[in-house]
Amino acid sequence: MKLQTLKISHFRNLTNLSISADPSFNFISGSNGAGKTSVLEAIYCLGTARSFRTTRNNLLIQNGFDKLNLFATFCDRLGKDHQVGLEKGNGSKRFRLDKSEVQRASEIARLFPLQTFTPDSHALLDTGPLARRRFLDWGLFHVEPDYLAVWQKYRKILSQRNAALRNNQSRQSITVWNEPLASVGEQISNFRQQYCDQISSHLDACLELFQLPYALNLEYRPGWSKNITLAQALENKIEFDLARAVTTSGPHRAELSLTIEKHPASSFLSRGESKAVAFSLQFCQMKLCALLSGEMPVVIWDDVDAEFDEVRRSAFLQLLADMDCQTFLTTTNFAGAVPNCVSSYKWFHVERGDLKEMV
Ligand SMILES: Nc1ncnc2c1ncn2[C@@H]1O[C@H](COP(=O)(O)OP(=O)(O)OP(=O)(O)O)[C@@H](O)[C@H]1O
Ligand SMILES: [Mg+2]
Repeated sequence: MKLQTLKISHFRNLTNLSISADPSFNFISGSNGAGKTSVLEAIYCLGTARSFRTTRNNLLIQNGFDKLNLFATFCDRLGKDHQVGLEKGNGSKRFRLDKSEVQRASEIARLFPLQTFTPDSHALLDTGPLARRRFLDWGLFHVEPDYLAVWQKYRKILSQRNAALRNNQSRQSITVWNEPLASVGEQISNFRQQYCDQISSHLDACLELFQLPYALNLEYRPGWSKNITLAQALENKIEFDLARAVTTSGPHRAELSLTIEKHPASSFLSRGESKAVAFSLQFCQMKLCALLSGEMPVVIWDDVDAEFDEVRRSAFLQLLADMDCQTFLTTTNFAGAVPNCVSSYKWFHVERGDLKEMV
């Protein structure tokens, strides 16, 4: 996927701006508070209907205005052109794709894959298992056409079983959900296990480029005890689940464990190393997306100067250049000095919400 043009109105501190993007690198420079991250956030919002910085969507509308508008043209892997638009007011949202109104953000997300690298990317290692399950789910959503439907089915059955547990219903009206939950849960688990194996097979080469001096071990833990089926786990844990009024076995409790010599990677690595691991995992995900679905995600890289030393920053730029993906990146100190690996680029400078293309 390549973004061709982007128009932003009344988004954060950006009043009205438009960009005609480079198919390769797009550097966005400016001082602190200029509006650089907001440009990336606007692209992210077009692909997902939400922000990567906040869950409070009303903060996205420029102060003093009652709605924001985003619009972009892009071409997909088959070279087909599309238009996507988002209009957001306080409590209202209209998403359009190729002039038709779209109800679910996932319809756009499938055509508009984005991979976001930010100073907070190390959270993939540092925070709870939910971030890592989301990582797996994002990847599978883009490479397995059936995954979303299977996942939604699982969520539905799980909430029915949990409701029965919460409402203290008869044992039979709880266990009636075991078989359907186990059958869909095992499917999710198989998808995720396969996906982890695929990520693992690409990971070492990437970590080597970041010069990580350790071997990282990836292990998918499915969310129930080893060597038994999910149906057996649900059966075995029924008393436990009744006491807690919630289902405690299944892929909603899965973990992607990341260890280095048996230590959790998050407590072993330096901040910059953690970020390199997170970037590597995300990069492998992009690679799989391109290999398996044919669609190369657009990269959003906020604050290239944060945490990485020159070697790591150049290594990652080189990886992106080799992948021929479109990249939007922000920096406070780009002065037109382009790294050697970048052959095609545009440079945009933002000042107090105003963006200019530099030549
Ligand atoms: N809803 C809003 N309306 C108007 N301005 C806003 C709104 N939300 C945030 N801002 C302001 O927009 C400005 C740009 O923020 P942004 O995070 O994009 O800056 P930045 O260029 O990425 O800065 P940094 O280099 O510090 O990361 C900030 O001054 C912020 O306070
Ligand atoms: Mg910023």
